[in-house]
Amino acid sequence: MTQQKEDRLISPRGKNEDNELEQTLRPRQLSDFVGQEKIKRNLEIFMTAAQKRNEPIEHVLLYGPPGLGKTTLAYIIAHEMGVNIKVTSGPAIEKAGDLAAILTNLGEGDVLFVDEIHRLSKIIEEVLYPAMEEYAIDIVIGKGPSARTLRLDLSKFTIIGATTRIGLLSSPLRDRFGNIYRLDFYDNGEIEKIIKRSARILKIELAKDAAEAIAQRARKTPRVANRILKRVRDYAQVKADGIITPEVARESLAQLEVDELGLDETDRKLLDIIISKFNGGPVGVGTLATATVEEIETIEEIYEPFLMQIGFLHRTPRGRMATPAAYKHLGKKVPSNLTDKLF
Ligand SMILES: Nc1ncnc2c1ncn2[C@@H]1O[C@H](COP(=O)(O)OP(=O)(O)OP(=O)(O)O)[C@@H](O)[C@H]1O
Ligand SMILES: [Mg+2]
Repeated sequence: MTQQKEDRLISPRGKNEDNELEQTLRPRQLSDFVGQEKIKRNLEIFMTAAQKRNEPIEHVLLYGPPGLGKTTLAYIIAHEMGVNIKVTSGPAIEKAGDLAAILTNLGEGDVLFVDEIHRLSKIIEEVLYPAMEEYAIDIVIGKGPSARTLRLDLSKFTIIGATTRIGLLSSPLRDRFGNIYRLDFYDNGEIEKIIKRSARILKIELAKDAAEAIAQRARKTPRVANRILKRVRDYAQVKADGIITPEVARESLAQLEVDELGLDETDRKLLDIIISKFNGGPVGVGTLATATVEEIETIEEIYEPFLMQIGFLHRTPRGRMATPAAYKHLGKKVPSNLTDKLF
């Protein structure tokens, strides 16, 4: 079971197999970054303004479901500002001393990218506050009565934080970010563009309409799109002289049990449980986790955002409900009391 989950083709979570691919395909500049137009416009304005004033940009918080481009954007910002980027993550900073070492090594204007920033410990957060606001940290030297605090000045730097779970971020930390952006799912046209760009870079031949066929099944998520492209290429090499046609894309994804909307077995099982066992819901997420043998966190972070985005799942204070669209997709009869008006 676990093995199978790790292998999920359409998981938006990064996997080891993605590392090299993502390095190659990651856009380096804002103009190569497809979609998220509003964020790009805002970023352009405040980066230009900061450059004109010759100041570092204000701290940036990027949030949204996995695989939508948070890390990519952090690198792009540093690149566009012409500064160094140092990368760390919430769980990696264990002691105040670790953070002090990182911060004191940053140069003027440098970016510190903190991935999974919701996982910083309270103690570390408290060291971070004056660092973010006043560019200084207070460190305690010695122990007991002879202990004293020493204030260390830092270069003016920028923190870019990323999280898939904005709700878990403490409000004092959130409030210290001058720019907060939520990344949204992409539309299929944007995903198609990303697939074409990736195919060009990887020298993969796409026949007419092939990018569209892949995009339709890529869960509106660039990481999933790139991963599927790679898998479909393998299939095409074995079965179709290496050229990806819409048929080849459809066949290979059907074989991998990804349906025409990008849902896999676990998504369908999740919806099926709500519909068949709980009359369409509402069902608590804990119950769903037990029934699907998934962790609550995985359901909330991975499955739900997409199923909600395509209008298959609805969240109410009493739990999750399946919508008429979900019934139809699974080939079930929509109960007469369940109308689209409810959602
Ligand atoms: N807007 C985009 N245009 C083109 N490619 C993109 C875009 N966004 C993401 N990608 C591609 O998708 C891959 C995954 O993106 P990225 O690693 O930035 O996601 P993330 O939001 O940081 O995910 P996680 O939450 O798992 O850390 C990148 O390597 C890049 O190739
Ligand atoms: Mg990331």
